[in-house]
Amino acid sequence: MRRTTRAQSVRFTSSIVRLRQDRLARSVTRNMALYPRPGGSTPPVSSSPAPTPVGRAGQFLKAEAQGGLRRRDLRENDPLGQFHDWFAAAAAATSHPETCTLSTASLPSGRVSARVVYLKELDPAGGFVVYSNFGTSRKARDLFGSGDDGSVPNPWVALTFWWEPLERQVRVEGRAKRMSAEESQAYFDTRVRGSRIGAWASRQSTVLRPLSGGEQGPESAEQGDAGQDDGRAQLERWVREAEERFAGVERIPCPEYWGGLRIVPERVEFWQGRQNRLHDRFVYDRVRDGGSEDADAGAKWTLERLSP
Ligand SMILES: Cc1cc2nc3c(=O)[nH]c(=O)nc-3n(C[C@H](O)[C@H](O)[C@H](O)COP(=O)(O)O)c2cc1C
Repeated sequence: MRRTTRAQSVRFTSSIVRLRQDRLARSVTRNMALYPRPGGSTPPVSSSPAPTPVGRAGQFLKAEAQGGLRRRDLRENDPLGQFHDWFAAAAAATSHPETCTLSTASLPSGRVSARVVYLKELDPAGGFVVYSNFGTSRKARDLFGSGDDGSVPNPWVALTFWWEPLERQVRVEGRAKRMSAEESQAYFDTRVRGSRIGAWASRQSTVLRPLSGGEQGPESAEQGDAGQDDGRAQLERWVREAEERFAGVERIPCPEYWGGLRIVPERVEFWQGRQNRLHDRFVYDRVRDGGSEDADAGAKWTLERLSP
């Protein structure tokens, strides 16, 4: 196998960067915010014919006319209700406002990982609900620990939403718990059949390797590039196996390793972009009085303004 030396890999990287910068220079827009390093050896993206405010991010101006976000605009003691209001506004202004980043951390290493997911429900009892694979995924390892790599359970997660047309961000921090098999099945039943089969077929985030020569047969023929199997054939084989297993079955059971994750918030921040980076930020923090860690509609919350 060919080994890449450190010098080679640095050169390789900088040629990619240059290629990207050439492309960027061609498509540079008024709002581009890449910072051209003074004296940088590669041409800065600002070398496009028309001078543009490259290196300066756009101003957040949408909320200026309404005087920004004030404490009186927010619900007292009700971050979930407040999230509901903002989500409804985001839904009217953008497609897929449910898109968010779910961050988890592995313990004891502290190594963080983040991925985009869809928020699927706001639980009336006070939880943010997402659905995923909790068998093999990285989030599963971070949340529930794995004997294999010595990681231990860490239920703390963060969810981050960015609604650009409204110049609003919401940050949620809390503890995650798996939902019951019944709750997961109820949502699973609403998914299109292909997605239900897919949940059975995919060992999420595990490495897919090419099938060994003799086994490739039909898979590589289906790919139309015989001999070029890069691991996709294995996934397609698992899909076929799942289809065979559930042939004629209308109500496919939800796999034990798949389902809902309820995130019970401890802290929810509402962020409204303002001019000159003087954003408005308000954070709700749950008041703990030694009671249960579960979501409950009767929780008490403080509300404070944060410096931008
Ligand atoms: C727009 C978008 C939405 C996604 N929604 C989900 C989701 O709801 N659940 C999920 O498990 N993965 C979702 N994914 C895939 C994840 O980003 C990620 O690849 C997967 O969950 C494996 O991550 P992990 O191994 O770090 O846990 C989505 C990806 C994108 C780009």
